[in-house]
Amino acid sequence: MNAPLSAIRPSATSSVPLRGAIFDMDGVLTDTIEFHYQTWQRLADEERIPFDRQANEALRGLSRRDSLLRMLDGRTLPEAKMQELLDRKNQYFREFVKTMSSDHLLPGVRDFLDDLRAAGVKTAVASASQNVYVVVEQLGIADDIDAITNVYCVDRPKPAPDVFLHAAERLNLSPSECVVFEDAESGVEAALAAKMHVVGLGPVDRVGAAHWVLPSLNGLRWADLQAKFEK
Ligand code: BG6
Ligand code: MG
Repeated sequence: MNAPLSAIRPSATSSVPLRGAIFDMDGVLTDTIEFHYQTWQRLADEERIPFDRQANEALRGLSRRDSLLRMLDGRTLPEAKMQELLDRKNQYFREFVKTMSSDHLLPGVRDFLDDLRAAGVKTAVASASQNVYVVVEQLGIADDIDAITNVYCVDRPKPAPDVFLHAAERLNLSPSECVVFEDAESGVEAALAAKMHVVGLGPVDRVGAAHWVLPSLNGLRWADLQAKFEK
């Protein structure tokens, strides 16, 4: 592969062959982080909630409601008002979603999905986003993904392992047969708690707890993961 690699911690090798790839969506398959930022900023400005790009970074991987709670920083609002704000934010976000296409796949994603198909690897998306189905559709990768799940299919959001365990179940695989790709600290924590192999995408100060840290999926091949994680 072409991407520079850095082993952050000894990899969790196992004698169980890898058979499944489970992807987080936002920040892994597509860069919706900017769309989320712009829509939260618009809502925050309208509601006079202090917010900026740096504050947005802390929201990566959190559900919409958990993001708003974090922005409110302990301030409480009546449930009806909370719901209205969450709906308004999503309405703004859906305007961006309408403009999305396969051009919004992050570099290397299309090639990696083709490589997984050729290698007979099962694939899932396990996201915190309620919009996961429509975004996967817009990106033109629905036929490449065997199971699509989000935290609304399970009891607890990331950093609980639930959504990744649910994805593995949908693929009929055990956790040790799966490798997870995550860009968020809470997602890495969730995947580790699910006892899966974990590739963190992004800076070490964000995803350094993962078994393997890479800058992106660009240039990655299934054989690289087998070499890294299989004994
Ligand atoms: C996560 C993103 O994947 O999904 C967060 O990292 C986002 O930034 C969250 O807030 C919820 O997304 P949605 O589409 O349900 O508002
Ligand atoms: Mg993400």
